[in-house]
Amino acid sequence: MAEIRLIIDGREVAVPAGATILDAARKAGSYVPALCDHPDLKPIGSCKLCIVSVEGLDHYPTSCNTLAEEGMVVQTRTEELQEMRRNALEMLLALTNHPTSCLFCDRKDECTELRECMKKFPVTVGCKFCPSDGRCELQAAVEFVGLERVRYQHIFRNMPVLREPFFDRNYNLCIMCSRCIRVCEEVRGEGVLSSNPDFHRMHWIGPPSLMDSTCSFVEHAWTSAPPEPSAHGQKNGSGRTASSPPSAPTAASDAGWILESKTA
Ligand code: SF4
Ligand code: SF4
Ligand code: FES
Repeated sequence: MAEIRLIIDGREVAVPAGATILDAARKAGSYVPALCDHPDLKPIGSCKLCIVSVEGLDHYPTSCNTLAEEGMVVQTRTEELQEMRRNALEMLLALTNHPTSCLFCDRKDECTELRECMKKFPVTVGCKFCPSDGRCELQAAVEFVGLERVRYQHIFRNMPVLREPFFDRNYNLCIMCSRCIRVCEEVRGEGVLSSNPDFHRMHWIGPPSLMDSTCSFVEHAWTSAPPEPSAHGQKNGSGRTASSPPSAPTAASDAGWILESKTA
């Protein structure tokens, strides 16, 4: 297959024809937050966090769905890009009402014992009670862009966690990446999961009961979320165990499937 050579953050990299700029950035070792992308799915370019700067272009293309071209000179982390990503991520968190207490807490690395916030709020408001803590793409993106707060009012939605024998679904943590729906449809060909007509207001993924659906209970749909699969359940009470050890949220580890099982 023909190869394309381009420069990413000053490093020359070769990728096969048809690769995206995001593929090239990953190959060059440049982390680019990409919350709606997954290597097994068609890119939809919705989260906008993967924007990059390309010499000669007067706009910032989303790298997940822009093909790499011979001779391109790409920057992935200019201050301008980071500022735009901060705004996009802030809006995403506000619009989805994703809990942020631990994301911005100065003492998040010291609170294992105390968990002061957890004593004041329901456990689901914080990363410290989330099974994805420490291996979460959303945490990594927040850290990478340097987002320190959300200026818009947002509320904890307090949706009931949907508990079933194989999966717990916690839509308080859903950031509407639609990876689960797309995996169910594109990879498994099942089409069981669907965003309901009220998705953008309510953003929960149907059907209400998987047991009553035609779901064949494959892991894929549930291991494709940016907050890794188990983020849809709760550590505190879900009984989930991970069969692979937590890994740093790098582009490479994000790309893999992680098998989890619910034990109770
Ligand atoms: S998914 Fe879990 S670990 Fe990730 S930001 Fe949300 S609460 Fe924190
Ligand atoms: S449930 Fe998870 S995978 Fe599905 S849209 Fe929400 S965050 Fe994405
Ligand atoms: S990963 Fe490119 S827009 Fe979300």
